[in-house]
Amino acid sequence: MKLGPSLARLGTTATLACLLAVVTMSQLALLAEAMGVVAFDYGTEWMKVSLVKPGLPFDVVLDRDSKRKIQSAVSFKKWGLEEEILYGTNAYNHATREPKQSFYALKTLLGRSSDGDADRAARDHFSSIFGNDVVGTDRGTCALQRPFQADNSSSYPTLSVEELVGMQLEYGKKLAEETAGEKVQLGLPANFNIGSFGGLDTVVTVPAFFTAAERQAIYDSAVLAGFRPRLVSDGAAAAVNYAQTRTFPQPEKHLFYDAGSGSVRATVVEFSTQAITADSILSIGNTQKEAIVVNVLGAGWDREAGGLKLDLILRDRLAAEFDKQHGSQLSGGTIKTNHRAMARLLKEANRVKHILSANDAASSAVESLAEDIDFRTSIDRQSFEDEVARAGMSKRFTDPVQMALRNAGLSMGDIQSVVLVGGTTRVPLVQAALRSAGVPDDKIAQNVNADEAAVMGAAFYGASYNPQFRMKAIRAYDLVPYPVTLKEASGAEEIIYPAKSYEVEGVVRRYPGATEDFSFELQYAAGSERLLEGHGRGISKVELTGISEGLKDLRESDQLGSIETQVNLTIVSRPLGTYMVESASLTVKPKPGGIAGALKSFFGVSSPKKASATSSSNSSASAAANGTESDATAEDRKADGDDAAAAAASADDDEAAELAARDRVLKLTARTIPSAGTLRSMTGEEQKKSKDRLWTMSQAASRKAAREEARNGIESYIYRVRDMLYDPVFETVSKASEREAIQAKAEELSEWLGDVEGEKAETAVLRLKRASLEKLVKPLETRLLQSKTRTVAYGAFERSLEAGRAFVVEAKANLTAALESNQASKYSLTELDALERQVERDGEWFEKGKAEQAKRGQDEDPAILSEDLDRRRKKVEDTIAKLVKRRIPKTRPPKKAGRGSKGDDKKDKEEKKGGSSDDDKKQEAPKHEEL
Ligand SMILES: *[C@@H]1O[C@H](CO)[C@@H](O)[C@H](O)[C@H]1NC(C)=O
Ligand SMILES: *[C@@H]1O[C@H](CO)[C@@H](O)[C@H](O)[C@H]1NC(C)=O
Ligand SMILES: *[C@@H]1O[C@H](CO)[C@@H](O)[C@H](O)[C@H]1NC(C)=O
Ligand SMILES: *[C@@H]1O[C@H](CO)[C@@H](O)[C@H](O)[C@H]1NC(C)=O
Ligand SMILES: *[C@@H]1O[C@H](CO)[C@@H](O)[C@H](O)[C@H]1NC(C)=O
Repeated sequence: MKLGPSLARLGTTATLACLLAVVTMSQLALLAEAMGVVAFDYGTEWMKVSLVKPGLPFDVVLDRDSKRKIQSAVSFKKWGLEEEILYGTNAYNHATREPKQSFYALKTLLGRSSDGDADRAARDHFSSIFGNDVVGTDRGTCALQRPFQADNSSSYPTLSVEELVGMQLEYGKKLAEETAGEKVQLGLPANFNIGSFGGLDTVVTVPAFFTAAERQAIYDSAVLAGFRPRLVSDGAAAAVNYAQTRTFPQPEKHLFYDAGSGSVRATVVEFSTQAITADSILSIGNTQKEAIVVNVLGAGWDREAGGLKLDLILRDRLAAEFDKQHGSQLSGGTIKTNHRAMARLLKEANRVKHILSANDAASSAVESLAEDIDFRTSIDRQSFEDEVARAGMSKRFTDPVQMALRNAGLSMGDIQSVVLVGGTTRVPLVQAALRSAGVPDDKIAQNVNADEAAVMGAAFYGASYNPQFRMKAIRAYDLVPYPVTLKEASGAEEIIYPAKSYEVEGVVRRYPGATEDFSFELQYAAGSERLLEGHGRGISKVELTGISEGLKDLRESDQLGSIETQVNLTIVSRPLGTYMVESASLTVKPKPGGIAGALKSFFGVSSPKKASATSSSNSSASAAANGTESDATAEDRKADGDDAAAAAASADDDEAAELAARDRVLKLTARTIPSAGTLRSMTGEEQKKSKDRLWTMSQAASRKAAREEARNGIESYIYRVRDMLYDPVFETVSKASEREAIQAKAEELSEWLGDVEGEKAETAVLRLKRASLEKLVKPLETRLLQSKTRTVAYGAFERSLEAGRAFVVEAKANLTAALESNQASKYSLTELDALERQVERDGEWFEKGKAEQAKRGQDEDPAILSEDLDRRRKKVEDTIAKLVKRRIPKTRPPKKAGRGSKGDDKKDKEEKKGGSSDDDKKQEAPKHEEL
């Protein structure tokens, strides 16, 4: 099937427009607030997050340590009776201490089965990283077992892969929300697959080769993290990123070569500029506009080649070297059974690999790697590359290129350039392999931001669906490489999604004559085994119910022969590459001719009286509600337009004609049922339970974090206090007895912290304990501080006091003068008296305190504090400043004598602005009335 970038393809946009059409007005309001897209590139080793939001630079979201990528790891660190949850580099590093409480490269287990041979290699590979124990869930998928903790500190010793990945995505979500200053919100119903209107929309990248189960697993993980994302293949995302800064007056074909840590992917993409119908809900009518169309033509891949594989080859080589040097000294004879040591070696291997990318040789040194033995060796690039070649990896790095070209029906000559994406493309041997596989040098386009191309493209892709952004119009048509068939119970199979099909509108299938529930299977078509590389063909087994129950009465009364039935089934590929029944219904029509009792009630005909099409349809609605009771058969009915018209035309015709005019539609329920070789996706109930678990864990972890912070705070406080005790300056402000008391308290506290009681102590208790030491130390700190600030504070206070007194005298003189000459004054006597009293009180207070202070030694508490002096001084100064700023009210004749000129008005306004006392306001009030 050759799908050019034709209008048929643009059906995607039709789907979207269709969905948008059902958005109600209130949701439209939400839509207008949809203010950001957060995208995830969840890789085997690294997770990258990007954010596009108006007003913010379009960029990746930084980790807490300001790194642009986050290690795909989660780890549980035991702290007393609790555990802390670590992410990113912290989690990865913690693996060297508690490997079995640490999980890394979980992407390789997404959508894998937990038993049987099919995914054994993937499970073994995963276990070889940190020695984790892979167990199963009752959905047939993988879960990870954490070592049992006798004190129950690991509240959930078994966590599913989706939960562990979901935790990491949630961590990424928190970072994105902090950057955006906005929450991710789920504003629309679950089947509205465009992220999360109303807050941040979400896009998650997947490798094109991901099967339905793998896609479902990452989707479920994202749902647990509080997202409802779109999925896009990372190749398509990188292509969108590429298109962002380019124009394509002529169509161009490029190959995106992405060597990541877990796999190698090649994607052939055609770029062109086409007129599209604007699909935004906000653009009314069929506006035509130009857009860059990103058209994925073919994909190729290797599921295992990649950076992590190189690391593991290097790690094993280091381990072999260690065994050669020291194996005989080890109790087990080999380092390979020591998971902690192997985790450290993996870290070291990654470091060495990066050095070898730019150097011919690297030396490696790991202190007390195992049983206190230091490890030292050196590796040259050539021997590393030989090792990689021996493992057959070079070819595996380049085969995907041929595969993608074959898949697209093109040859290297058709390709303008090979764009390198993904961190591992920087490894020299990968580029060398590409050259030796026939990719000409001048076609290799180095990408400055190879690492971030996919995650940036994904955010842009998400934003292109949102009219808010007014970004460059880009439409991407992503494909799924595998053909999907629908297999009926009879064994009949039909391809419903051909290979390389795009995200199109639902596929509709019709089954005439169905009178009983039935099931069918969705599978990858026979012949796709090679592409699936060990993944089973099964996708899901689906059972349609509601038919048998809906037709029960007719069956019992032997009326099935009098009706015609048809099942309509719509299957959609949403999220992209997963398959689900979007709707299923059974249409029942009476056959021309005989109508008997059971039929009458089934079709809701209660009397032989003629009725208009509408009223009969009305009355039958209630009967229909009665016929079927389970919500599996929630019914609605509809009158076919043509038939209704016919009925109206021959109004005096009999019931038969009227019955023929209508049909009854029963909604059916589609349920995924267990079937050998398929993995069940999470039910809503299971998702809810998992979300609760994650929430409980994160709550416990943040309580733990608060407690830890309090503990650390006390520890460093004790250190500071001990230092203080030996500081000669502190000696001058303290008595020996005080220092002894502090010393004793600090020791007591330190001991208590190390105790069982201290380890278990809640944050509140820790704060109290700290306060008990602070109570002794604070006075000394106060004395020291006061001795430093006293002179300045006293001086400023005395000057201010003088100035205050002078002001009062002068202001009173002016007031007197004003009163005598019958002029207005700025001040009233009352307020000047109040100020004077204040100044005098302050003066007395100060003199008393100063005298008292003179009697006290440095090692005694101060009589008055500089802060108090400053506070009182400021208060008086502020009062005076306010009085000085005040304007003199305009003196007016007592009665209004005509309006003033414009100039007067202006002055009035200025007075209003200047005046602030109540008096002023009273004066102003009449003016307002006049105006
Ligand atoms: C651990 O949990 C089990 C079951 O919930 C309980 O019986 C046991 O007492 C707990 N142990 C500790 C040390 O809290
Ligand atoms: C079922 O499909 C038929 C076409 O075969 C269509 O006319 C009918 O409207 C569909 N019924 C429903 C309920 O969608
Ligand atoms: C038809 O249904 C509507 C809404 O359910 C109801 O208000 C109306 O009374 C019904 N008419 C008849 C004739 O039953
Ligand atoms: C169904 O019929 C029963 C009795 O025939 C009646 O009690 C009940 O209310 C009806 N239910 C509906 C939904 O019409
Ligand atoms: C008192 O009046 C004189 C002369 O108008 C003026 O310069 C001075 O600022 C006034 N003093 C106060 C405290 O209002």
